[in-house]
Amino acid sequence: MRIILLGAPGAGKGTQAQFLMSKYGIPQISTGDMLRAAIKAGTELGKKAKEVMDAGQLVSDELIIGLVKERIAQDDCKAGFLLDGFPRTIPQADAMKENGVDVDSVIEFDVADEVIVERMAGRRVHPGSGRVYHVIYNPPKTEGKDDETGEDLVVRPDDEEATVRKRLAIYHEQTKPLVDYYQAEANAGNCKYLTIDGTQPVELVSNTLAEQLG
Ligand code: AP5
Ligand code: ZN
Repeated sequence: MRIILLGAPGAGKGTQAQFLMSKYGIPQISTGDMLRAAIKAGTELGKKAKEVMDAGQLVSDELIIGLVKERIAQDDCKAGFLLDGFPRTIPQADAMKENGVDVDSVIEFDVADEVIVERMAGRRVHPGSGRVYHVIYNPPKTEGKDDETGEDLVVRPDDEEATVRKRLAIYHEQTKPLVDYYQAEANAGNCKYLTIDGTQPVELVSNTLAEQLG
């Protein structure tokens, strides 16, 4: 099963990716998590990406396409994968097509900008695994600690309100056109397109996804 999770920053892609990974046994490919890991490891890619990400801008298509191509070629992706945060520009979607990477389902999470700004203020993440929490809506069992490892949770550097607003503006300008792009793909019979109300509670969103994906 090959799935694309499409939606604004904070729409819940990472949260539902955790659910879908365990339900369908396919890996999550989060370009954001991969870039954050590269920054932490101090690689060349990380050095190039850090400033761009902290400013809420998009990393170049060329870098991202290379990164995803390499990841998809790995063995654990043979039975399928969940793309979280990729593609997010038309050239990235075109590159997938040119490389013959078909997808079964595109899932769009619909959430209004103001809801997102509030969510990001309460987000906490576990850098090692990419697990995502919210201080009110999805709290960890122990405050400030990851449920599975007990390690500290952190605030993402790009979750400051001004940066979130910048990311939302870039989403509307560069990523939102992919809604039409994949709806056209679905109309041509190339994939399934699902729009999910992402403002429902986390569990309800998961249940709706499970129902619709089968
Ligand atoms: P990335 O890490 O992909 O960030 P993003 O797309 O901005 O999305 P987020 O991770 O912020 O949100 P999410 O949808 O995963 O929401 P989450 O589940 O965490 O990218 C970061 C940066 O990397 C980019 O800005 C760019 O610079 C670069 N980059 C990455 N990919 C790129 C690409 N392809 N091309 C170019 N550059 C790229 O949820 C958010 C919060 O809400 C959490 O606290 C969560 O607990 C809570 N929550 C989730 N669901 C619900 C719910 N239903 N109800 C209440 N709260 C909820
Ligand atoms: Zn995410």
